[in-house]
Amino acid sequence: MSFSSKDPVSLFSLKLMLGWRSNNVQAGSLKKRFRARSPVCCGRNNMPFVAMKNQADQRRLLLERHLDSLRACRSCPKMRSPPVPGGPVISRVMLVGQAPGAKEPELGRPFAWTAGKALFKWFKKELGVDEDQFRRSVYMTAVCRCFPGKNANGGDRVPSRDEISLCSRWLRAELSILRPGLVLTVGKLALAQFLDDVPPLTEIVGQAFRMEKLGHSFDLIALPHPSGASPWHRIEPGKSLTKKALGLIREHAAWTDRISSGEHDSAEDQGNSQNTRGSPRIG
Ligand code: URA
Repeated sequence: MSFSSKDPVSLFSLKLMLGWRSNNVQAGSLKKRFRARSPVCCGRNNMPFVAMKNQADQRRLLLERHLDSLRACRSCPKMRSPPVPGGPVISRVMLVGQAPGAKEPELGRPFAWTAGKALFKWFKKELGVDEDQFRRSVYMTAVCRCFPGKNANGGDRVPSRDEISLCSRWLRAELSILRPGLVLTVGKLALAQFLDDVPPLTEIVGQAFRMEKLGHSFDLIALPHPSGASPWHRIEPGKSLTKKALGLIREHAAWTDRISSGEHDSAEDQGNSQNTRGSPRIG
C-alpha cells in the first residue's frame, strides 16, 4: 500500500492537520513546565495531557470528516449503497471485516446480523466484552464498505478486484488517522489486504504478526470469518486456534489500553506486543 493523490487524507496533509511537528515541540516545552509544577502531568510517551487532548481532538475531527466522505461514496456501480461505516471510535484496536451483508445497510452498522452475532459471542466469551462495549471501544472497518449484492447461488457476492482496490483508500486513510497498535482481520479477504499471499488459516490463526504499513508498525491477529457458510472455526483445529487467537487479543497491550486516551501515536505503538511471535515483515 502506498499513498496516492487520490487518497482521502494524504500523509502530508495528515501530518499538517495533526500538527505533528509543532505539537511535538510544544509537547517538549509544556512537559518541562508541567513537570516543574506537578510530578504527575504526563501521559503516554511522556506527552502532557493537554497536548494529548489536543491531538486526540484533531484526530477525532479527522475521523469524523473521513466518515462523512465515506458515507457519501458511490464509486462502485455494482455495489449496493449506502456504505456502512462503524462509529467514530478513536481506538488503538481496529477490526477489519469483509463487507456488509444484506441486513447491515438497513441496520446501519457493520456485523449487525448473523455473522455479527457469532463474532460478538466470541468476544463476550473470550474477551469479556459485550457487543455494545466492543462497538464503543474498537474501530470497526472492512475491505469493502457496501453490500456487494447476491451471487447466482444466493450467497453474498465476493467483491471484485477493482472494487477492493477502489475501497482500499478508505482503509489506508483509517490506518493513517488511527495508527492502531493492533489490527484484527476477520476472514481471508481482510487478511489479504495485509499479506500478499494468504497461507491456509491453520498457519495464521492463533499467532500475532508484526506488520508495517504506511510507515506505521502494528500487530496483526487474524480471526476466521464467523459466518455460518464456513465450518472452519467450529471444527478442530480451527476451534482451538480461534480460541488461541482470542486469547492473544485479550493479553495484548493495545487491547487492554484500547481507549485509555485518544492519543496513541507513540513509540510504545512501535513495539507494544508481548505476544508477537515470529513476526514476518509482510506487506
Ligand atoms: N461480514 C462482514 O465482514 N461484515 C459485516 O458487516 C457483516 C458480515
